[in-house]
Amino acid sequence: MADDSINKGRRRFLTASTAVIGGAGLIITAIPFVETWLPSARAQAAGSPITVDISKIEKGQMVRYGWRKQPIFVINRTPEQLQWLPKQDPRLRDPHSNEPQQPSYCKNGHRSIKPEWMVLIGICTHLGCVPDYKKKVGPEPFDPDWKGGFYCPCHHSRYDMAARVYDGVPAPLNMVVPPYHFVDDTHIQIGVDPKGAA
Ligand code: FES
Repeated sequence: MADDSINKGRRRFLTASTAVIGGAGLIITAIPFVETWLPSARAQAAGSPITVDISKIEKGQMVRYGWRKQPIFVINRTPEQLQWLPKQDPRLRDPHSNEPQQPSYCKNGHRSIKPEWMVLIGICTHLGCVPDYKKKVGPEPFDPDWKGGFYCPCHHSRYDMAARVYDGVPAPLNMVVPPYHFVDDTHIQIGVDPKGAA
């Protein structure tokens, strides 16, 4: 893969959207139909948690945010996407997230607090590229038995729809799940877990 295409891939997340400041934290409203990364220099500089509005994220859609200068992926997974997860276990390096330094709520089959909502730091655990979200099920050039997930164009690492790394790729670990919690049914706060995972 040429360096130029890698750099383009890494820059792709630099798109803008809206941010609403309120109360103790930052509230970011997702724009439907557009995959965006919403960095807040102010929040990042302070390392503050961010609160994101997930009410407009459609089924199957991923929206990107920014927290501590890292891309955060929030995906509203479909029942079809979830159904493939247990069937991928034999192909994965760490299907049960036994590696240390992961929140307890990612040590389940879907790696999340609520099965449909995946929250992760969108950075490949090999050398730090930003993987692409490849939600379509079907043969891909990089995997003839692709069931949806994340593909890193830098050195071809693959992750499933729970960001669990496949065996036999350069990336050594599952993508990281950040500390987060649900403020209510339509808001997630990322960067702090009241139960102690922050
Ligand atoms: S950085 Fe992702 S595979 Fe190397």
